[in-house]
Amino acid sequence: MRPSISIARSVHRVARRSYSSASVPERKVAVLGAAGGIGQPLALLMKLNPLVSHLSLYDIAGTPGVAADVSHINTRSEVKGYAGEEQLAQALEGADVVIIPAGVPRKPGMTRDDLFNINAGIVKGLTTAIAKYCPNALINMISNPVNSTVPIAAEVLKKAGKYDEKRLFGVTTLDVVRAKTFYAGKANANVAEVNVPVVGGHAGITILPLFSQATPTANLPHDVIKALTKRTQDGGTEVVEAKAGKGSATLSMAYAGAIFADACLKGLNGVPDVVECSFVQSSITELPFFASKVRLGKNGVEEVLGLGNLSDFEQEGLQSLIPELKSSIEKGIKFANQS
Ligand code: NAI
Repeated sequence: MRPSISIARSVHRVARRSYSSASVPERKVAVLGAAGGIGQPLALLMKLNPLVSHLSLYDIAGTPGVAADVSHINTRSEVKGYAGEEQLAQALEGADVVIIPAGVPRKPGMTRDDLFNINAGIVKGLTTAIAKYCPNALINMISNPVNSTVPIAAEVLKKAGKYDEKRLFGVTTLDVVRAKTFYAGKANANVAEVNVPVVGGHAGITILPLFSQATPTANLPHDVIKALTKRTQDGGTEVVEAKAGKGSATLSMAYAGAIFADACLKGLNGVPDVVECSFVQSSITELPFFASKVRLGKNGVEEVLGLGNLSDFEQEGLQSLIPELKSSIEKGIKFANQS
């Protein structure tokens, strides 16, 4: 090897090492809606994630400040802020994971579906840009109503010839986070050891926690399971009401979003057996999209896992959620194809 080339290579290696550990691949994560209630704490949590090498913070306004603030934290990733549509391309280029908490949140008395008219358009615009500038990225959709925004994104990507069902995820992790917390309280279990799958969708009765599969097992009486199910389904509304007009869950959502993005990054990096619940294209029920446990891998979804055994109560819940979830999915598809 010629000395000059060898020196150049070692300089490059040293530069790389000072910036990232050689065994951890470079990964760019973009947060769209990064100046918002979820976006800011999510930006903070992603800055703390050592799997991220480049953190791209995009919003229609306010991101230079958030980016400057977060960039001073002495962790691996390089942070850049992008504001306004003219900077969206740069924000997205080369992204491995795009997290979307852009849009308006609920106020008391609103359902997630009430957000449809505004957020559907925002998601459509952002997904169109993803199809153009980073079509291979894993999309983590947080914007509500997730039951409709994921089908909208799928249709937009299909129209652009860029749809890969393995790369599109509705983030339902907050439902799992809540189910774990509420179950641990009733089961008197260490919350860090609790697991509860949550399937279906991400709104009201479409959220179906499977407490019959919760671990560690606790044999809770039926009325407690019923109450836990209702509290998990209404968890978002509990926060909306407590915030009394100042929005919906932001901090717990940022935590949940960071957990899910971390799982996606681990999957991309080849870590085995990464399993999270997510709302994805699915054939485990009659519906084209459904949340269930998903194994994540180098290309996104590696396997959509089945529902497992359901109790009679969960079976009833499954039957009742199907019509509502079906209509939310169809509403999204219709919107994407109409406008
Ligand atoms: P927020 O209003 O505090 O922040 C939203 C941000 O999106 C704002 O900074 C706004 O400027 C930005 N934004 C609007 N249009 C945009 C565009 N075209 N491109 C980029 N950014 C844009 O709202 P918050 O509380 O952060 O909630 C965001 C979304 O997340 C809402 O749709 C909410 O319903 C949803 N959400 C989802 C949850 C889930 O479990 N999946 C849980 C909680 C909220």
